[in-house]
Amino acid sequence: MRKIIIDCDPGHDDIMAIITALAHKDELDIIGITTVAGNQTLDKVTNNILKVENYLGINIPVYSGYDKPIIKPSMPQPIAHGESGMDGPILEESKVKASNKHALDFYKEVLEKEKITIVALAPLTNLGMLIATYPNLKDNIEQIVLMGGALNGGNINKYAEFNIWHDPEAAKIVFDSNIKVVMAPIEVCESGAILLSEVNNISYDKKVSKLVRELFDFYCNYAIERNLDRTSIFDVVPIVYLLKPELFKYELGTVDIVLDGVDSQGQTIFKKDENGCHIVLLETDRERFIKVFIDAINVLDDN
Ligand code: BDR
Ligand code: CA
Repeated sequence: MRKIIIDCDPGHDDIMAIITALAHKDELDIIGITTVAGNQTLDKVTNNILKVENYLGINIPVYSGYDKPIIKPSMPQPIAHGESGMDGPILEESKVKASNKHALDFYKEVLEKEKITIVALAPLTNLGMLIATYPNLKDNIEQIVLMGGALNGGNINKYAEFNIWHDPEAAKIVFDSNIKVVMAPIEVCESGAILLSEVNNISYDKKVSKLVRELFDFYCNYAIERNLDRTSIFDVVPIVYLLKPELFKYELGTVDIVLDGVDSQGQTIFKKDENGCHIVLLETDRERFIKVFIDAINVLDDN
């Protein structure tokens, strides 16, 4: 059983990732969820995960973290995720609040006691601040498995992917820290994209599948408007990697983060190196990857 903390900015695909993890309770123990400004403001993304927990009837402690990147202003993405950060499903407000403890204090408390894997599905502000503030706790971070970066062209500027671009200074701290980082860039996510025809097979009939289908109702608009037949479910990739690493091709090396340039800020430059502490996921087996995701929805609904 692996203990994990999920750092996220829900976010449609963040929720899909958490659902995938929840279906594997024997393998992944989510001991806490931390939130950070990214897809939407900190308040909105924190509220989104609380609403989803309430809807699913679960109670994983939620700790909110930083409401803006280390240097840049926050830049929410309503085109991808809507004004709420999770447009689509209409969920009741949760009566449960986030913990009064800041995410940074939560990480400190856990890492002083034990080794942990961190799954990062959002800009890296919380983790950059953690490493900068408590460098002595680094040894207890087993690994950081993150969705972020791009090898051949970005989704937010010519070269950069959103999570890294939103807080490049934090990303640099993380990648320069000597901690083992597994990076799932845009390309591996694209190789595992879900077909819109597969989305249409998800029914509205059961609790979890209804939530996922309603998330897709908004999330797929981007692909539909561009006449694409599929959409990447980015944040699901790190979770499936933890569950089934054999589904992925990868390379070892080092990733450098570009800090400046309108077209290049947040670019991830990868160099192969057998002794590097970064693992870059390159490609997945699409059908088996999607099966893990769809099976997770069904497992939760059938329990
Ligand atoms: C990443 O940015 C967000 O829009 C998604 O939730 C994902 O984490 C993809 O670039
Ligand atoms: Ca995300």
